[in-house]
Amino acid sequence: MANLKLTNVAKTYGGTVDVLKNIDLDIEQGELIVFVGPSGCGKSTLLRMIAGLESITGGTLEIDGQVVNDVPPAQRGIAMVFQSYALYPHMTVRDNMSFALKLAKKSPEEIDAAVAKASRILQLEPYLDRLPKALSGGQRQRVAIGRSIVREPKVFLFDEPLSNLDAALRVATRIEIAQLKESMPDRTMIYVTHDQVEAMTLATRIVVLANKGIAQVGTPLELYERPENEFVAQFIGSPAMNLLPGEIVETGEETVIRLNSGGMARSAVPTQTADKGLKVNVGVRPEDMVEATGDALFEGVVDYTEALGEVTILYFEKTGDADQFLAKLPGIHNEMRGRTVRMTADPSKVQVFANGKSLYYR
Ligand SMILES: Nc1ncnc2c1ncn2[C@@H]1O[C@H](COP(=O)(O)OP(=O)(O)O)[C@@H](O)[C@H]1O
Ligand SMILES: [Mg+2]
Repeated sequence: MANLKLTNVAKTYGGTVDVLKNIDLDIEQGELIVFVGPSGCGKSTLLRMIAGLESITGGTLEIDGQVVNDVPPAQRGIAMVFQSYALYPHMTVRDNMSFALKLAKKSPEEIDAAVAKASRILQLEPYLDRLPKALSGGQRQRVAIGRSIVREPKVFLFDEPLSNLDAALRVATRIEIAQLKESMPDRTMIYVTHDQVEAMTLATRIVVLANKGIAQVGTPLELYERPENEFVAQFIGSPAMNLLPGEIVETGEETVIRLNSGGMARSAVPTQTADKGLKVNVGVRPEDMVEATGDALFEGVVDYTEALGEVTILYFEKTGDADQFLAKLPGIHNEMRGRTVRMTADPSKVQVFANGKSLYYR
């Protein structure tokens, strides 16, 4: 139960404003899909279309092989948890969790069993007789999740459920959501977030939304290690991937790129996809940079350092109109400020993009 298939799905507001178009996506039962993307790119809109809270203006949404474009929300077998918990303030935790089942005319025994099960999974048993105001933010969010669990939906939708929590609670609740998913392996979940750590740690697959469409779908590691395009390359990972313009000068076992800044980059991108003379952007992650002994991919003066404890971020002096180059080294390295440093990266970690698209996918 609960495969979702989106085919050429589109959303237009008022007949004129395109928000999303050409969305093709297959979601298998039991997956935890995370939608990420810049603010305003349509994450909530897409989730609300799946829930049935927003009309689908083009294409089809299928749940288990049935087109549900015109099926009302309550009949889709979907539960949605919002950023604002929307609990009834005058009702206890137990009553908040029971409410939908009472409306559905379930028997008291069924309701008690469902609430007992959900409160055990969510560790809410000690709080069942409290009012929402006597709970922490994290506990309230768990009640909101509990309210959706009792209905035993096939699909759970979460729209930035942790963004109102402070940092420590966010981490704790994130782990609870991961455990919740493990306790319900056959349920499908779609989770919207702008938090990279949530996306990387929770997702079976991440959908990156940008420019009204899907920029890439893949496992967290696929997106991190082999981004399909420059947008995903710079959106996933923090600080963002460095991009340096250059030209392919050698193909063979490795692809060699002469960078406009004077450096040389070596990439393991397959040779048959790389043409001599092709203008490219080389992408390297700050955390993949190491001090060069041979050819340097980048050479510059360290303008500023940020020691974060386990790592130090080096900010290099800007040259010309290039973006500022960053490197992330293990340990504390404030002594490197003001020094001229030569950096390189392992060829397997060097991405090559032509016209914004990765040569790895050519
Ligand atoms: N009811 C609406 N009418 C017109 N435009 C809307 C409406 N709801 C959202 N939008 C627009 O759709 C775009 C996507 O919004 P949203 O899905 O909330 O983005 P996200 O959740 O990714 O931040 C935004 O540009 C927003 O202004
Ligand atoms: Mg949103």
